Amino acid sequence: MWTISRLGAEEARAVLPELAEVLRDCVDGGASVSFLPPLAWAEAWRFWERMLSGLAEGQRILLTAQQGGQVVGTVMLELSSAPNSLHRAEVQKLLVHRKARRQGIAEALMRAVEKAALEAGRTLLYLDTCKGCAAETLYRKLGWVEVGIIPRFAKQPRGFCDTVIFYKHPTSYVIRKTPDAKREKNAKRGGRSPTPSTGGEGSVSGRAMPVHPG
Ligand SMILES: CC(C)(COP(=O)(O)OP(=O)(O)OC[C@H]1O[C@@H](n2cnc3c(N)ncnc32)[C@H](O)[C@@H]1OP(=O)(O)O)[C@@H](O)C(=O)NCCC(=O)NCCS
Repeated sequence: MWTISRLGAEEARAVLPELAEVLRDCVDGGASVSFLPPLAWAEAWRFWERMLSGLAEGQRILLTAQQGGQVVGTVMLELSSAPNSLHRAEVQKLLVHRKARRQGIAEALMRAVEKAALEAGRTLLYLDTCKGCAAETLYRKLGWVEVGIIPRFAKQPRGFCDTVIFYKHPTSYVIRKTPDAKREKNAKRGGRSPTPSTGGEGSVSGRAMPVHPG
């Protein structure tokens, strides 16, 4: 059993050692998330200290997964602050401690982060991940769209890894009515057909993704 929560800066400070432990465990387990193993405790701590200031200033959203009273997973959103990109945010540091993996925690965090993004008015999300890692499989499962691959993007203990860039609208946009669909419907009713289309997109509607309970 686990729960997903959104933490403010003060709440995050209270669990900073647990966040640092999740980061340390993931890096030492071979994850390509900015750091190289072995990750010193102080370095993990300093990373989260820096994140706290962004949280306090409203530039970030932090979600955690807690199990047995401990933080075992986390994900962040960095909200773009440039005037021309207030609709966009980057998903960062999806991390699940090795002891809590393969229970659906990362999937729940990703669904929750999409919901949080929508609530913050962010309709375009993007992220990058190491090619061939478990997270790549997860993002594809959740409908993230691959943009491309940058070769040798990040250093690893033995060589380099390529990175895959993904984006997603944090809604499942569905085409409600294409001109062709309208024409078919009208024809069935015996009404007049609208002008034949050349394949226009029609109107779209968005639907927020549900957050899975733990
Ligand atoms: C990637 C990571 C977050 C997944 O966490 P998790 O809680 O174990 O993932 P979930 O249990 O929610 O798995 C959801 C889906 O992800 C995929 N997945 C997760 N782990 C996988 C693995 N080891 N191999 C292949 N696919 C995997 C599967 O599609 C899975 O769905 P399924 O169980 O129906 O097959 C975790 O392995 C991790 O923290 N890795 C190190 C940090 C990292 O690389 N983060 C990504 C930064 S971009």
